[in-house]
Amino acid sequence: MHSMKTTVVLSLLASAVVIAALPREPAYGADPCKRTKFETRLVADACAAGGTPRAKDVMKKWVKDVKSKQAGLECATCHSKLAPTYDLKPDGLATFKKLGGQ
Ligand code: HEC
Repeated sequence: MHSMKTTVVLSLLASAVVIAALPREPAYGADPCKRTKFETRLVADACAAGGTPRAKDVMKKWVKDVKSKQAGLECATCHSKLAPTYDLKPDGLATFKKLGGQ
């Protein structure tokens, strides 16, 4: 019975070692933002925390919040392209700031 216990303990230890040894993915996993230089804190923080999925969520929520300031505001108001590059229109950043984005 003693050896049985030892075996269990050892295999638990072994799996702990395996888990600890797995390569650490960054929080944003395989889908980091395309930008590497950010003009806004909102998007910079979102990209650092959760890559493109987080940036998308944060932007969606932000658009909802500021929609009352500009009727018909949507992603394409500021972005000439959406996924995967989310290119901005020439005035995209200015519009973002005008609406209070930071
Ligand atoms: C008022 C203008 C504006 C609107 C509307 C807007 N965005 Fe953005 N978006 C920006 C700006 C400006 C940036 C770049 C921020 C920076 O440089 O820090 C950006 C960046 C992003 C990024 C980061 C992309 C990357 O990989 O670098 C994503 C994703 C994104 N927007 C998604 C959306 C989605 C989805 C919508 C619609 C729900 C939306 N945006 C609406 C202005 C806007």
